[in-house]
Formats: sequence, structure tokens, C-alpha cells
Amino acid sequence: MDKALQDIIDNKAWTEDNLVKLLELRGKDQKDLLKMGGDCLLQTRGSEVYYRGLVEFSNICTKDCYYCGIRKSNRETDRYDLPDDAILEAAAFAHENKYGSLVLQSGERDDEGFVNRIDELLKKIKRQTNGELGITLSLGEQTPETYKRWFESGAHRYLLRIETSDKELYTQLHPSDDKHSFTKRLECLKAIQNAGFQTGTGVMIGLPGQSLKHLARDLQFLMDFDVDMVGMGPYIEHEETPLYDQRSSLWPLGERFLTALNMVATLRLMMPDINMAATTAMQAIDPMGREKAMKAGANVIMPNITPSNLRRNYLLYQNKPCTDEGAEDCSNCLSVRLEMIGRTPGFNKWGDSLHYFQRV
Ligand code: 5AD
Ligand code: FES
Repeated sequence: MDKALQDIIDNKAWTEDNLVKLLELRGKDQKDLLKMGGDCLLQTRGSEVYYRGLVEFSNICTKDCYYCGIRKSNRETDRYDLPDDAILEAAAFAHENKYGSLVLQSGERDDEGFVNRIDELLKKIKRQTNGELGITLSLGEQTPETYKRWFESGAHRYLLRIETSDKELYTQLHPSDDKHSFTKRLECLKAIQNAGFQTGTGVMIGLPGQSLKHLARDLQFLMDFDVDMVGMGPYIEHEETPLYDQRSSLWPLGERFLTALNMVATLRLMMPDINMAATTAMQAIDPMGREKAMKAGANVIMPNITPSNLRRNYLLYQNKPCTDEGAEDCSNCLSVRLEMIGRTPGFNKWGDSLHYFQRV
């Protein structure tokens, strides 16, 4: 790698300009950066990749983000809400398949019935799996009290993507009302951290109006916020959303993908001890997308274990992979895929973020 670039990494000189230089790398220098990200992971964490069984249990959403396929104004989506039994069954599946932990994700709701229901589900899952299954929640913005309550009922990790750390860009991607405020989202992320959760966030890459400078500042934000876990992936346009109208201004998909790989590798070098997901959106662009992200420094994979007849309705973006496969197919093919790239499944482990234990 070019000496000036190598110096940035060796000196941990993560200024905005330097980060832009890393994010725009292509060709041989990019290859070197991605390898450094992967090597950094192997040195600090080893070759284990942790599984999170993902249950997208409902696509009912009260919000209206301009980029998202399950936004409430999209009338083209059949809405579903998995019965509790089916969620418990999926949790049992994750446990039996040694996934170590579970992610419960849905569209955003904060009514009392929903909050209570999650609370009950958490307790049941804990009981049913003898406390062995780790539980991550990805249920959007809630009150500090709700976060605390869910933490006490057994969830220990929470994912809430900031989507972009730039207030102005955030505002362009969401309706301008209290339900979609950047300030509120940031406060929620703080409240999640304060409630005691291992805190995960992330951004989309290649959004309309987003530049490499925005992404460089996103990386600085993740570090300043002291996040424990990160999930980032390319933005993929969805026809039934308002942002689709801006598709002509987007970077080509391939560029979004390559930039996302550089984001993963760079963040791994910046924060060696966090957990980072190889996201499904990477695979939606490149069939080997998740493997490439793991080779660049990602160490978490989230196999979708939502019962497959409903999965096709949880389309945040189009061409989402694995929407017609059964969960078991995915489980088997995943181990082979990991082996191919020299990684090993961290079966039966929660695979906590080491960063969390340094932080608290
Ligand atoms: N493209 C890529 N990612 C998306 N998400 C939502 N819509 C899209 C899209 N069109 C991501 C958001 C959200 C996560 C659950 O999915 O980052 O937080
Ligand atoms: Fe559901 Fe954004 S559209 S949270």
C-alpha cells in the first residue's frame, strides 16, 4: 500500500480528509485495505463469526421513512404480524441450531400493547431456552422506560441505525415531523446505551445526496459514540418509495458496494474490538457480498429465520436474497460458505462485543 495511506492507518489519523482517502480506494490499494481490515479482525478476535437468527416478525410500521419498502404509506405490501407461537418456534429453532443468539426485528410501533407483548415474549424466550439464547432487539425508537424494561426482561443488545449521522441529510430522507426527528433518534440511541444494552447502530451507504465526506463523518460518529456493534450496508432503491424518484442521481450499485466494503475495513481498523455485521444488503448486490464483508473485517452474520411464507413481505428494499428459501437451507449453506473463506461458526456463543466490556 502507498506509504502515505499506510501512515494514516499506522498513526490512527482518522481525520475526515484521511478517511475520504481510504473510502475512495479502488484497485490494488483497495485490495490491501480490505486485507488489512480482515487481518485486524483475525488478530484481535480470531476467525469466529457469530450467528444471530433474525426474526422479522412484523412489517407493520407507524413510520414513513422515504427509503423504506415497509413504510406505512406503501399500500402495495401485505402486512403481517407473526403470532407469538411462531416467534417462540423461531427462537427454539435458533437455539437448536446452536445460533447462540436471536434478533427480534419489526416495523416500528410503540403502543402499550406492543411494549407489553415484547416484554412477555422476552421472558418466555429466556425461560424456554434456559437463558442460553442471547436476545437482540431491533424495534426502533421507544421511551427510555421501555428500553429499561426490555433490558430487565432479558434482552441485552439493541440495534438502532442512525441511518446517517448528518442531520441535514437525515432530514431529507424523512418526513419533517416529531416522529422522524434526527435529535430524537440520537436521544434514543443514548437511552439505549444508558439502559445497559450493548448498543448497535449503523448507516446506509450510497444514499441520494450522500458524499464520501458524509460517510467519513459517519465513521467518526461511530467512534465518538463508542458503539459496540455496527451494521452498515448499501442503500438499495425500492420502487414503492418516494426516494425512488431520485434514482438517477445515485452512484452505480457496484460503487455503493465497493464503498461499503471500504467502510467495513476502515471501521475495523478504527475500532478493532466491536462486532460488525456482514449485512444482507451486501448480498443483495453481490452473491458473495457477505463473504467479502467478512473478509474485510465483519464478524457477525444474521441468517434470516423468519418462517419463509411471510418473508417475502418484509422487503425493505427489492431483490432481498433468500426470500424463498427455508431457514434450514440457509443454516447448512452458511457453514460451507464460512469454511470457504477461512472462518468458523461461533456456535452456541452469544459472541458479545468486546468493546462493551471495555466501555462499561
Ligand atoms: N436500502 C437499504 N437498507 C435499507 N433499510 C431500510 N430501507 C433500506 C433500503 N431501501 C435499512 C435501514 C434500517 C434497516 C432495518 O434496514 O438502515 O435501519
Ligand atoms: Fe418503518 Fe422507517 S419506515 S421505521
